Amino acid sequence: MATYDLVIIGTGPGGYVCAIRAAQLGMKVAVIEKNETLGGTCLNIGCMPSKALLHASEMFEEAEHSFAKMGVSVPPPKLDLPSMMNFKQQGIDGNVKGVEFLMKKNKIDVIHGTGKILGTGKLEVSNSDGKTQPVETKNIVIATGSDVAQLKGVEIDEKRIVSSTGALSLDRVPERLLVVGAGVIGLELGSVWHRLGAKVTVVEFLDRILPGMDGEVAKQFQRMLEKQGFAFKLSTKVTAIDTSGNTLVAKVEPAAGSASEAVEADVVLVCIGRVPYTEGLGLKEAGVALDNRGRVQIDPHFATSLKGVYAIGDVVAGPMLAHKAEDEGVAVAEILAGQAGHVNYDVIPGVVYTTPEVSAVGKTEEELKQAGVAYTSGKFPFTANGRSKVNQTTDGFVKVLADAKTDRVLGVHIVGREAGEMIHEAAVLMEFGGSAEDLARTCHAHPTRSEAIKEAALAVGKRAIHM
Ligand code: FAD
Ligand code: NAI
Repeated sequence: MATYDLVIIGTGPGGYVCAIRAAQLGMKVAVIEKNETLGGTCLNIGCMPSKALLHASEMFEEAEHSFAKMGVSVPPPKLDLPSMMNFKQQGIDGNVKGVEFLMKKNKIDVIHGTGKILGTGKLEVSNSDGKTQPVETKNIVIATGSDVAQLKGVEIDEKRIVSSTGALSLDRVPERLLVVGAGVIGLELGSVWHRLGAKVTVVEFLDRILPGMDGEVAKQFQRMLEKQGFAFKLSTKVTAIDTSGNTLVAKVEPAAGSASEAVEADVVLVCIGRVPYTEGLGLKEAGVALDNRGRVQIDPHFATSLKGVYAIGDVVAGPMLAHKAEDEGVAVAEILAGQAGHVNYDVIPGVVYTTPEVSAVGKTEEELKQAGVAYTSGKFPFTANGRSKVNQTTDGFVKVLADAKTDRVLGVHIVGREAGEMIHEAAVLMEFGGSAEDLARTCHAHPTRSEAIKEAALAVGKRAIHM
């Protein structure tokens, strides 16, 4: 029987990155994966396929609505959905193959099957034929990710009532798409199908979209989406869906209860969050404790309640983001190698890949107010940014929040085109404890949209140049 220094269960961004870092540090490593392909949710049914469809549908919409005004005259674009899905699949395959290559390159064993923890250093892997194989190792990392949260009383069939997985593979554009949950998935995948022609209505339990994002950003972003044609029903919930006819009929009522209305749809996308995935791992029997939300409980060094067993990524607390899982994977590998692995949870960027994009790093205004932190704010709109003006993409703004006493940047929020690429200079600045003044005095290339960040930092000191 092969014995290892480290065995990781799950090959999502948490697991495969952890494996590579551990191998770089000289450990003998294996990964266990129950899916046919490596890469987890992110590569197969998450980040990557959604971004491929967001890119393709954005190009479709640009061709439809933006080319003519730039003097590019083309016939109205025609949608070839199977080809678009093929484009998506090529993107998935390319990235999955990339992970397979990296496993080989780093001499990491890939064991296909479902991993179960039997105790410290002991695992069992069962394959689809029911055959089991024992595996021994010094340490185990649980990186089993998350699964779709279910809506009570509504059964997902992945055809008409879909989760994100089904919404990434619809075989035709629904005339009416009802989205339950105005979070990241609802707005990204809602955008894909809206751009391709669906009428999109979003039902959200709370009185705002994108909970967790800065309130002002969310409000303005909602208006932009409404201008695009999205309809929002806030403070509202779906309590049942009648599937008996050709048309789905959702029972929609105010979050606080009372009279319901019927909303018709061809497809309903349920995206009300994700839950940690620990099925079949044998955690209870092995003595690995979960918290009150079913997440694997860990200490600040990613150690679970069972000696030699660690956990990272979506299956533990914190934002369910691929880059958070990756950084935890690196940190735990370094800790196991006797180094000081660490994740700075105050500087984890978040991006919504819509048009325009929304991005953020650090604290929101609401969080600073709640914590009683005195802060100053500098804002700069893209309408005053030269590059945005010439490209006629002026929706949105940048907001820099800085400590009122020390000027240290505490949060940066952007809504606008390319916001997801722009956020990283703020992340680097914050990682180094930089101030709004540091940002404002850093020379930014002209003409770029990033100049809006410098201007927002200047606005903290009330001295923006172009406003
Ligand atoms: P996962 O990627 O979920 O991987 C877990 C792996 O473990 C899976 O392959 C699973 O098969 C395997 N596994 C589970 N149990 C066992 C077992 N017992 N034995 C063997 N294998 C097992 N995040 C971003 O940062 N950016 C985005 O743009 C983004 N877009 C997303 C879009 C969608 C539609 C969805 C659903 C998610 C998106 N996410 C995005 C979130 C991101 O996918 C997750 O945060 C990330 O995949 C978590 O990584 P992980 O390694 O913890 O787990
Ligand atoms: P989410 O947590 O982002 O949003 C869920 C939304 O549903 C919330 O607004 C919530 O208030 C609402 N909701 C909950 N119950 C409801 C109900 N009964 N009726 C109506 N609304 C209800 O979760 P989502 O969008 O499902 O995404 C899951 C995870 O995947 C997120 O944690 C996110 O971080 C990750 N993800 C990240 C992406 C990115 O980084 N770009 C893209 C897609 C997903």
